Order: sequence, then C-alpha cells, then structure tokens
Amino acid sequence: MKLEKGQIVEIKIEKIVYGGEGLGYYNGEFAMFVPMSVPGDILKVEIISLKKSYGRALIKEIITPGAERIKDLNHVTFEDFQGCDFGMLDYTAQLKYKKEMVEDVIRRIGKNSEVLIEDTLESPIEKNYRNKVIEPFSFNGQEIITGFFKRKSHDVFQVEDNMLNSVLGNKIITELKNVLNKNKVTVYDEKKHSGILRHVMVRTNSFNEAMLVLIINDTKVSEKIKSILKEVMDKFKEITSTYISLNDRKTNVALGHKNLLIFGEKTIKEDIDNIHFNISPTSFFQINLDQTKRLYSLAISMFENIENKKIVDAYAGTGTIGMILSKKAKKVYSIEIVESAVKDGIQTAKENNIENVQFICGDVNKELGKLIKAEKVDSIILDPPRKGIDEESLINISKVGIEEIVYISCNPSTFARDIEILEREGYKLVRVKPVDMFPQTSHIEVVGRLVKK
Ligand SMILES: C[S@@+](CC[C@H](N)C(=O)[O-])C[C@H]1O[C@@H](n2cnc3c(N)ncnc32)[C@H](O)[C@@H]1O
Repeated sequence: MKLEKGQIVEIKIEKIVYGGEGLGYYNGEFAMFVPMSVPGDILKVEIISLKKSYGRALIKEIITPGAERIKDLNHVTFEDFQGCDFGMLDYTAQLKYKKEMVEDVIRRIGKNSEVLIEDTLESPIEKNYRNKVIEPFSFNGQEIITGFFKRKSHDVFQVEDNMLNSVLGNKIITELKNVLNKNKVTVYDEKKHSGILRHVMVRTNSFNEAMLVLIINDTKVSEKIKSILKEVMDKFKEITSTYISLNDRKTNVALGHKNLLIFGEKTIKEDIDNIHFNISPTSFFQINLDQTKRLYSLAISMFENIENKKIVDAYAGTGTIGMILSKKAKKVYSIEIVESAVKDGIQTAKENNIENVQFICGDVNKELGKLIKAEKVDSIILDPPRKGIDEESLINISKVGIEEIVYISCNPSTFARDIEILEREGYKLVRVKPVDMFPQTSHIEVVGRLVKK
C-alpha cells in the first residue's frame, strides 16, 4: 500500500533511537520515527513527512501503552509534556535509554567495541531542577505569554508552570507577565523586527535568591521598563539582581550584546564544595545543581593521584571544576574564552582564597599550545560546548604527551567523534559513564577517562 502524508496508520514501536524518537516499522518494513513514543506502544499515528526509506509521524491515539510509559495517558504530545521529550517515559527507563544511546554512538561513531558503558548516574531530583530558564515572549491575541517554541517552529506555546524550572523561577515569570500585561508592553515580532519583549531569563540558586534578566529589542532602557522591573522586584525579596539585556539584532541568540545592571548585585552566587561561585548573566553554569556536584566529583575521581599534579581545566566556564580540583591538585590552569566568565572566576578565586588556579582568557586551541610550551602539564579535563573539540586541538593535546584526559561532554555524538580521534592519536578510552543532568529530556551528559597507551 502506498503511504501518504496525513494518512493515519497503526504501528508498534520497537525501540528508541539516538535523539530520543521511537522507531517502528509499518507493515514490518517501512521505518517510521515517532516522537514521544515508547517501545511496546501500539499507536495510531499521523504521517507528517515521508522520504524514500522512512517517515515521521505523530501520535493520534495510544491503543496499548508500552510497559515503560508513565501511567497518566492524558499527556501525549510534546506540548502536553511542556517540551520534555522524555516526559512520557518512567524515570528508570529514561536512564536505561540514555545508556543505550551512549553505547550506540561509542560503538558506531567512536568505533570502540570494547569499553564498558557504565550505568547512567541518576539525578537526585527529577523535576524543578533547572536553576536557569530562558523563555521567549509571544502575544496570543489577548495577552503576553511565555513558553517554548513548538517543535521545528517559531510559534510559542504557553507554559504556566514549567516542570523543569525552579519553583521560584516560575513564580517570578508569572508575576512579570502580569505586570507586563497590565502595562501593555509590545512583544517582539521577528518577521517585522519590531516590538519590545524578546525573552525572559531567570537564574535561581540554592539560597532561594534570583537574578531576573529581561531581554528587549531596543538600544536603550526606558523609564517604563525600569519601573516594571521595580514593581516585580518589590514583590519578590528573593530577587537580588535585575538586568536588562539589549538585543536589537536579527538573531536567534537570546541574550543581547549589552547587559545592563538595573537593580541589585552584579552576580548571583552559588555554593559547590564550600566554594562560593559568582555567576553573571552571560556566564556558563551547570543548570542542575545537585547533579552537578555528583558530576564534578565523578569527573575528579577519574584522575589518578591528583596530589602534585598540574592540571588544565579546558573550557572552564567560571572555573567551577578547576577550583574544586585545586583543593587537591598542585596547580590548575583554567582556560575559557568568555571574558565575563573569566572575571567571575578570578573574583571567586580571590573571595575563596584560592591561590593555585591561574585563569587564561582565550581559545583553548591557541592557549593550550602556548601553555604546554611554557609548563609541564600532567593531566587535562575537557568540558567543551555541544560542538565538541576541533581536530587540531585534539592532535595538539596528543602530541605533547599528556598522560591522562578526563572528558565531560553534553553531546555524546561529538564526544564519540573526538574519542575516535584521540584513540587514533595514541590514547585508550578506559571509562565511560553517562550522567543524567537533564531528567525528562533526551539530553545526555557523559564523562570518559582516557590514558596514554
Ligand atoms: C560546557 S561549558 C563548561 C563550563 C565549565 N567546565 C562548567 O562545568 O561550568 C563550555 C565552556 O566552554 C567555553 N568555550 C567555548 N569554546 C571555547 C574555546 N574555543 N576556547 C575556550 N573556551 C571555550 C564556553 O564559553 C563555556 O563556558
């Protein structure tokens, strides 16, 4: 039978593939990818796209739920789960599939058939774990809303109580929307490049404090916007810092080029391992604090005999890992490209009397080479962004003969690609452990240890 777009067919889901979608075979042979589905699900699905050898379809009806589907069958779609693409799986199954996805890329892209993939380290908190959220504004014809972009679109769907965001963050966003609606502020329209409100960002910390950043399409801050922020601040003693970010560019990047402190402190603080960190609006900081503590201690435990070692913390952010490492290591060099993050790091080191961490602001690819010529380095920890590390840097690391590497990644497929290069250049991957930093989503963090062969 010839399939067509819009057609409704019945399908049984066989497995979850890398990226988080379910896969089943129509008539036992034609591959159909179904987001938000669970192995064992028997479903009625609507075909939304067709290629020669596979198609994609959305769930219309759950005929029989798979055993690992959560009990509440009223929630079905991406929007029902507030954009959480693993929300339909019970938590143990989420951990199992994350391990399988890491295994898949290590074998297929990393071309490593030997290393044991350890069980996924579960997160102590499964919901409301995010200490930072950025939501786009939209106007639904009646009122200003915030939420998430629908899949593969720039239409926003309203989320009242974001299940991943901290409870305080949700309350602040709700109140901000009330005040903005009262004052009838315009919402940014990306097609016309007009309107004011673009995004809201809220960072919260374990001391129940918050930083509120309103991102607007403007070149200056009006008194009206300032008074709106003041009204929100007056309602929440928890807000210790308020910024306006000016973003008048045609871009998908949320934060603007100018971040102006309007009220309160320049940074928000967070504590890990009794070190007080300072975080600016633009600085990277892990979003699931309790699990971050476990991630860092796992990564640090992968080094052998830390004492007396000189270690590079590459892609350092605000220097979190480096400063924790510095309690044991002889010396740490933290390399980071974003200036504000380096400034935050230097301030943190000063405030915590940490003297054996040296910050280097620049590109790892350039700075690592210079550092290695000047100093003997024993080990390196790599924690790059999603795109991973360029081949030249990996080859440079391999050439200078660093004995051990710990690699943290938020993207298993670039991790696997980089591992393949490092193994080719003389390293052996000896440990791989997935870590669940992002429950309810298919995102995976992974930590690996490599040693010189
Ligand atoms: C995944 S974050 C890790 C931060 C930190 N290790 C932590 O756990 O908080 C990656 C960091 O790499 C930085 N970065 C990206 N490209 C870089 C480059 N070429 N050289 C140095 N740092 C870079 C980003 O600004 C970001 O702070």
